[in-house]
Amino acid sequence: MDFTKIFFLIFHFILLSFVCSVHGRLYDYPNVPRFRALSQISLPPSPAPEGAPETNNGKNSNDSAAIFNVLSYGAVGDGVTDDTQAFKMAWDAACQVDSAIVLVPYHYSFMIQSTIFTGPCKSGLVFQIEGTIMPPDGPDSWPKGVSKRQWLVFYRIDGMSMQGGGLIDGKGEKWWNLPCKPHKGINGKTVAGPCDSPVAIRFFMSSNLTVQGLKIKNSPFFHFRFDSCHDVHIDSLYIKAPSLSPNTDGIHIENTNDVTIQNSIIYNGDDCISIGAGCFNVDIRNMTCGPSHGISIGSLGIRNSRACVSNITVTDSTIKHSDNGVRIKTWQGGFGAVSKVTFNNIKMENVRNPIILDQYYCNNNNKSCANQTSAVYISDVIYSNIKGTYDVRSPPMRLACSDSVPCTNLTFVDVELYPAQGQKIIEPYCWNAYGDLRSLTIPPVFCLLEGKPQSLPSNDVDQC
Ligand SMILES: *[C@@H]1O[C@H](CO)[C@@H](O)[C@H](O)[C@H]1NC(C)=O
Ligand SMILES: *[C@@H]1O[C@H](CO)[C@@H](O)[C@H](O)[C@H]1NC(C)=O
Ligand SMILES: *[C@@H]1O[C@H](CO)[C@@H](O)[C@H](O)[C@H]1NC(C)=O
Ligand SMILES: *[C@@H]1O[C@H](CO)[C@@H](O)[C@H](O)[C@H]1NC(C)=O
Ligand SMILES: *[C@@H]1O[C@H](CO)[C@@H](O)[C@H](O)[C@H]1NC(C)=O
Ligand SMILES: *[C@@H]1O[C@H](CO)[C@@H](O)[C@H](O)[C@H]1NC(C)=O
Ligand SMILES: *[C@@H]1O[C@H](CO)[C@@H](O)[C@H](O)[C@H]1NC(C)=O
Repeated sequence: MDFTKIFFLIFHFILLSFVCSVHGRLYDYPNVPRFRALSQISLPPSPAPEGAPETNNGKNSNDSAAIFNVLSYGAVGDGVTDDTQAFKMAWDAACQVDSAIVLVPYHYSFMIQSTIFTGPCKSGLVFQIEGTIMPPDGPDSWPKGVSKRQWLVFYRIDGMSMQGGGLIDGKGEKWWNLPCKPHKGINGKTVAGPCDSPVAIRFFMSSNLTVQGLKIKNSPFFHFRFDSCHDVHIDSLYIKAPSLSPNTDGIHIENTNDVTIQNSIIYNGDDCISIGAGCFNVDIRNMTCGPSHGISIGSLGIRNSRACVSNITVTDSTIKHSDNGVRIKTWQGGFGAVSKVTFNNIKMENVRNPIILDQYYCNNNNKSCANQTSAVYISDVIYSNIKGTYDVRSPPMRLACSDSVPCTNLTFVDVELYPAQGQKIIEPYCWNAYGDLRSLTIPPVFCLLEGKPQSLPSNDVDQC
């Protein structure tokens, strides 16, 4: 960048801050627009002179922007020093100020231990990540007595945005290689032993959250987990982990509702997005997944549990080089229901099971699962405009519904799936699956049973 550009940026920055603060003072608007103005300027690499209102406990919250730069709280950012305390202090200070910004500055790399950032905080808190954040490297560096199931947790926060052009590097490799992980034990076995691995970013019991723009890679376990949250908006994330990294789901949600996930790219070793029990009103669009295990609802109903999932839409997305495309998976023996699911306008590129509904899911470290009669009831699922190619090792559509609780009202329209290799067409597989073909699919799903089942064991079926 040449001098005039820098000058121009700084000038602009000051001008905008000024304009916005006047604006804020005169009309007392919420501070969101101010922040927008700030965020469009990439922040200078060194601690900004106008940043960091020291430890003022928010007394000058009417300043142009209440920026809490972690460097001002003693963070070093050399990638080695433990900067956990600085982050906590910056968080605690920012938490008490309206529309505060916790700034993780560009050009620095911060090593932080497992931490719970707790609310409630004043509304409009922004966690602005421009630099790199990473955990200690692997299980041996994890402090004793600290949970190995989570790294950064945001708890009881209402109205927060996590954003920026920075990187969250999960340093997952040593966790993926634990002997308990698939084929990582002696002679490629999977052996018993400590297996807990941390979710990189967890939001718990929080609401009105926005996560956008970040890059996050190589999580030891799920990259994001949202549980017991509502009003969650995820936009423009880039998530990357090797295709053989175990359990590195991109975004996992459970007991969470009113969610939008969009415009993001995810390459990983497990589900691109997984939707667990208790989720409803979820809108997923313009995603690119793969290699991955596809977009999944489930697994649900494990150990005879009850699961209710409804009103889920996945649209305008691409899934490539993945084990699955759009999947619903339930264990035998569960209760509850999955209903009102739409998969629309999905492009498949060389996907092993583009459309899969599996009510015999069993992932028991080699043990087979006992047959059970109860099942999560699946109904009202639309597969529309799903086109592309499948890996011929499995059928392009597999609808394996429960023996005792059939799936009902599965609708297919404009589904066209061609073999990725050769000319051989693999027949779809169905078991106890009822529904309608609105248009002829390629290949045709002749095995889909028309209309309604003669009898639904309605007493046993819990419709949620
Ligand atoms: C902030 O507001 C207080 C009164 O609300 C005022 O006394 C103070 O000068 C203001 N500070 C700035 C930097 O505008
Ligand atoms: C959600 O949070 C934003 C700030 O991040 C705030 O401006 C907005 O009013 C909140 N919305 C609700 C419904 O609380
Ligand atoms: C879809 O997401 C990509 C990023 O993966 C983005 O570049 C593109 O603009 C988005 N399209 C729309 C219509 O928002
Ligand atoms: C379904 O979810 C969408 C958001 O994804 C929401 O706008 C809509 O109102 C929900 N429908 C019902 C019937 O709740
Ligand atoms: C898992 O199954 C394979 C063959 O299916 C067998 O060779 C192996 O011994 C089994 N491992 C365990 C731990 O049961
Ligand atoms: C479950 O039922 C299927 C089909 O009836 C049968 O092939 C399988 O062996 C049974 N599994 C067990 C564990 O009983
Ligand atoms: C079948 O499912 C669709 C989509 O969810 C729904 O609009 C329709 O009402 C359902 N039909 C019946 C007969 O339940």
